[in-house]
Amino acid sequence: MKSIMDYLHDALGERTGEGMRYGLSRWCCVLVVAVAATLAGCGESGQPAAPAKTAPAKTAPVKTTPANTASQSTRPADTPVVDKTDVDKTDVDTFLASHWARPLAPQGQPPAGFTPTDLSLDPATCGTCHAAQFEAWRGSLHAAAMGPGILGQLAEMAAGARDEHQDCIRCHAPLAEQADSLAAALAAGGDLAELRPGGNLHLHGMICAACHVRGYQRYGPPRRDGSAPKDRANFPHGGWIASRAFEDSRFCAACHQFEPDQYALNGKLLENTYEEWKASRHAREGRTCQSCHMPDRRHLWRGIHDPETTRAGVTIDAVKPTTDSGRILAALNIRNSGTGHQFPTYVTPKVIVEGVQESAQGKILPGTLQQLFIERRLKPDLSAELSDTRLAPDQSVTFNYRAARAPGARTLVLRVRVEPDAFYTGLYRDLLASGSAAKGRRLIQHALENSIASQYTLFESRYPLPGA
Ligand code: HEC
Ligand code: HEC
Ligand code: HEC
Ligand code: HEC
Ligand code: HEC
Repeated sequence: MKSIMDYLHDALGERTGEGMRYGLSRWCCVLVVAVAATLAGCGESGQPAAPAKTAPAKTAPVKTTPANTASQSTRPADTPVVDKTDVDKTDVDTFLASHWARPLAPQGQPPAGFTPTDLSLDPATCGTCHAAQFEAWRGSLHAAAMGPGILGQLAEMAAGARDEHQDCIRCHAPLAEQADSLAAALAAGGDLAELRPGGNLHLHGMICAACHVRGYQRYGPPRRDGSAPKDRANFPHGGWIASRAFEDSRFCAACHQFEPDQYALNGKLLENTYEEWKASRHAREGRTCQSCHMPDRRHLWRGIHDPETTRAGVTIDAVKPTTDSGRILAALNIRNSGTGHQFPTYVTPKVIVEGVQESAQGKILPGTLQQLFIERRLKPDLSAELSDTRLAPDQSVTFNYRAARAPGARTLVLRVRVEPDAFYTGLYRDLLASGSAAKGRRLIQHALENSIASQYTLFESRYPLPGA
């Protein structure tokens, strides 16, 4: 039976005729892209190497005095700390190059004086004190980043294929301790989604520690008043190191933006959210990713899967129907009025704008459906872009409904529907139909159901037709 990997090899090598000629970096990008449709910084070419002095994970932090901590080691020795608030002065790019230097290093030596609670990387432990962040995070897609779709694909990989795991979990469950628990679960066999006694850190996806903990040391934004603790030894988990990087859109680019040399189609990177944002008025007006996706620092990360968030990002105006010598004329105008990047930003969602006539009984009348798609549509094997009708910030599109009035037509329905996981629905169907999902079959089946369940109606207006 063909494995998912064989399927992916077919999808890239044979069809493009390029095989391994482009080297690991491109191979792995196409691989990841073929499975996930999104990635940045894949393989060797991805992240800039972190300068040793800025790698806090390599510095075993000691709780005792601030002078011995990673915070000090991340500052160039000749830069005096002038900020009374003790906020780390490492520039944002340097901090992030180290913070997101993947594969992430293991936490290492436990700092002296750390209690078992301080050492726990389990998000539920963080939640015992940081209840508000935990509650919000729990309902977010970051907490669901190791759902059945990715698990079903990881299930086909060998337990020892750590580099292959990294191609996916570098963004979905990036801690070294998560890589370990994933490898252990694969080695144990059985259902990969099942909780097991050894440790389930990988199942929780983008956990608190993935963004906030390196070498057991906590990193976070400065307090809302701009301050940070000076007497860190007196706080739980040795306090934290405050960095403005957490308030910066570049923090999110680690996983939501491709590197310039990565996979592009039709001159556009496959994942370009940060650059789309940077080119928009939102960046000029100081509206960061966090300001929209973490309002008031809430850990929500709602996006296209959430109807309310999407509704807030677009303005829809309907032109109600008129009839002209037996023809119905109507229109819908959709404007990207409040999305900080392309609407939508990824190749995975599909937005469908449509008009259709219905009978008095609410039956759809054949031949009356007209549609317009807002999406970046690729060939299923990702070898070409078929169309890109996404809306840049402040751009709009008008859908004109023009059709003969069908016999018995009583109502015109104008509607906007969203399929947040349209690409994945197709991918999962292919994996199941081709027999590529073997060990992960049940999970992929589950993922297919989820991808269909995520569809929703963003806007609907029903107009009685004149004389009805
Ligand atoms: C550079 C970061 C990155 C890498 C590497 C990556 N992904 Fe993703 N993945 C994302 C982001 C961001 C999303 C959400 C946006 C979307 O749906 O396109 C996502 C969404 C998904 C989804 C749909 C949501 C879900 O959980 O069901 C699946 C499945 C998935 N990825 C699988 C994979 C697999 C398999 C790999 C490795 C072959 C991989 N990803 C590698 C960033 C990444
Ligand atoms: C025993 C309680 C406790 C636990 C458990 C705990 N914390 Fe904290 N945390 C605190 C306290 C208290 C502060 C200091 C808040 C302040 O003074 O502003 C703090 C501060 C922080 C900050 C800095 C907040 C800011 O304003 O930037 C981050 C980030 C953080 N913790 C993350 C975590 C993570 C991640 C975990 C789990 C791996 C965790 N904490 C577990 C009590 C706890
Ligand atoms: C995807 C990365 C990410 C994850 C996962 C994450 N955080 Fe955060 N967290 C951030 C960012 C970014 C900020 C700063 C937001 C801002 O400044 O607008 C922040 C802020 C905080 C703060 C300071 C809040 C405040 O009001 O000042 C605390 C405490 C915190 N996080 C704890 C947690 C805990 C606990 C979890 C897990 C339940 C968690 N975080 C998960 C990125 C993350
Ligand atoms: C370490 C990688 C990583 C980082 C850093 C990260 N994300 Fe994500 N993000 C992901 C992955 C993976 C997903 C997809 C989860 C899934 O559905 O399986 C995701 C999903 C999302 C979604 C949900 C989109 C939807 O489809 O509805 C939003 C919004 C989001 N991220 C915003 C942010 C913001 C804002 C930041 C910065 C504060 C950030 N992310 C940082 C990896 C990351
Ligand atoms: C002005 C508010 C705003 C800003 C700024 C913003 N977003 Fe969004 N974002 C939205 C809205 C609204 C949606 C839902 C509609 C959509 O999907 O385009 C969304 C959707 C998303 C999604 C869902 C996937 C998709 O295909 O659309 C991701 C991921 C995301 N944003 C990440 C980011 C990142 C990363 C940044 C910063 C570089 C950012 N956003 C900046 C408002 C914003």
